[in-house]
Amino acid sequence: MRAAARAQPNIALIKYWGKRDTDRNLPAVGSISITLADLHTDMQVAEDETLDVDAFELNGQQNAAMLPRVSRCLDSVAGRTRPRLRVTSLCNFPVAAGLASSASAFAALVIATNAALGCGHSDAALANLAGGASGSAARSLLGGYVELANRDAMVAVNTLLAAEEWPLQVVVAITTPGPKPVSSGDAMEISRKTSPFYNRWIEQQPVDLNEARDAIANRNFIKLASVAEHNCLKMHSVMWGSRPPIVYWNSATLACMQTIRELQSQGVAVFFTIDAGPQVKAVCMPDATAKVQQALAATPGVTDIMLSGLGPGATLVPLE
Ligand code: PMV
Repeated sequence: MRAAARAQPNIALIKYWGKRDTDRNLPAVGSISITLADLHTDMQVAEDETLDVDAFELNGQQNAAMLPRVSRCLDSVAGRTRPRLRVTSLCNFPVAAGLASSASAFAALVIATNAALGCGHSDAALANLAGGASGSAARSLLGGYVELANRDAMVAVNTLLAAEEWPLQVVVAITTPGPKPVSSGDAMEISRKTSPFYNRWIEQQPVDLNEARDAIANRNFIKLASVAEHNCLKMHSVMWGSRPPIVYWNSATLACMQTIRELQSQGVAVFFTIDAGPQVKAVCMPDATAKVQQALAATPGVTDIMLSGLGPGATLVPLE
């Protein structure tokens, strides 16, 4: 009645923004992401008869704020009549700061819970359970280049290319370590209800998905760079056009984009993407990594740099 799993966050190149069903947390659009190798969340789930309610500990501290969301996810995997569970999470990167910590957390949580309680869910069911907790978490079940597609009342994830088939690198420029002001779930609903660009965003997504799928299949960096930057800026335009506006960027976010533009003008193979937070993720060819890292580290307002290759999907790991 105990199991542990590890999952890595993923970075969307073609973004998920908007829900078609808020109760079931179903995305309004498909998306394509890359799963990272070097950032990870470990989740241990253990039955504990002494508990009256579930317990959730993150990096050695009880975390009451996230407990309801964790318990809801446990209910969805193991049913409401399940035993009380003690969930222990260790995360080696900043949480809730636009680095997809919820993706790795909930991917690891569904895998560990399924194993701990012997629920016997299929991989397809686990993707929907992870997605129910955090839309992007379904993608962290798989490694490398991952597409999430809408299938009727379900989502389905599949691998477009394994990490080692096109081993790009990601340099993350941290501009503010703190948690984000508005959760992505709330922000998506504000966009859906108020942004005049929202419907056009949804309509155009298949075009960007096709272009990115093709770029990945042909390992065409320039083409992937172009569509990924376009899709990212379009998603943020939807947010900026919302009322109230949703602006996750700060001046260092813009400075990092400028740094990346300068590198591109020197012929360096790099592009940026930005999620629901102020951090900038620079995706580059392996031989450009040192240059990109140096340039971003020297950009005003950057407080930290993290590096990662592309990695595998979520897996069970031995218990500590
Ligand atoms: O999975 P959520 O609810 O945290 O939403 C993720 C939204 C973005 O990171 C901005 C885009 C994406 O596809 O990951």
